[in-house]
Amino acid sequence: MSDNGMKVLVLHGPNLNLTGFREPDIYGKKTLEEIDAETKQEADKLGIELRILQSNSEGVLIDTIQEHRKWADGIVINAGSLTHTSIALRDALVGVRLPVVEVHLSNVHAREEFRRHSMIAPVTVGQIVGFGGQSYQLALHALLSIHREVV
Ligand code: DQA
Repeated sequence: MSDNGMKVLVLHGPNLNLTGFREPDIYGKKTLEEIDAETKQEADKLGIELRILQSNSEGVLIDTIQEHRKWADGIVINAGSLTHTSIALRDALVGVRLPVVEVHLSNVHAREEFRRHSMIAPVTVGQIVGFGGQSYQLALHALLSIHREVV
């Protein structure tokens, strides 16, 4: 599909750099590089320009969100464990006033109780959880459909 001018920031939070190695029975055997490559492929098909960043640091994630306020049309975020704890991340997402889709590799609702609560879910368009690396691709489709409604 031709370029539709949409730009999306994809963020991976703490420990997601270990994807493929850590708890593969829960998070799958694909590395983050492989997941990113597949996400980029889907973005190319949809005509979406992507920027992808992984950080173990809450501050870097917040700085990156703020820096992309004017560049991005939407954000896909897997905040890892910060999902369950970070008011600062939630405030940053609200602050940039962009549509956000929260994703998780695993089905957080089928795991420990503490993973069922997301600090950021109330300020997102929605959550896509439990589809492994494909969660990111589904999130791109979700953001694109919203983008088409508003432009
Ligand atoms: C995760 C789920 C979180 O609860 C966990 O802390 C992670 C990964 C997921 O993608 O399934 O680091 O965000």
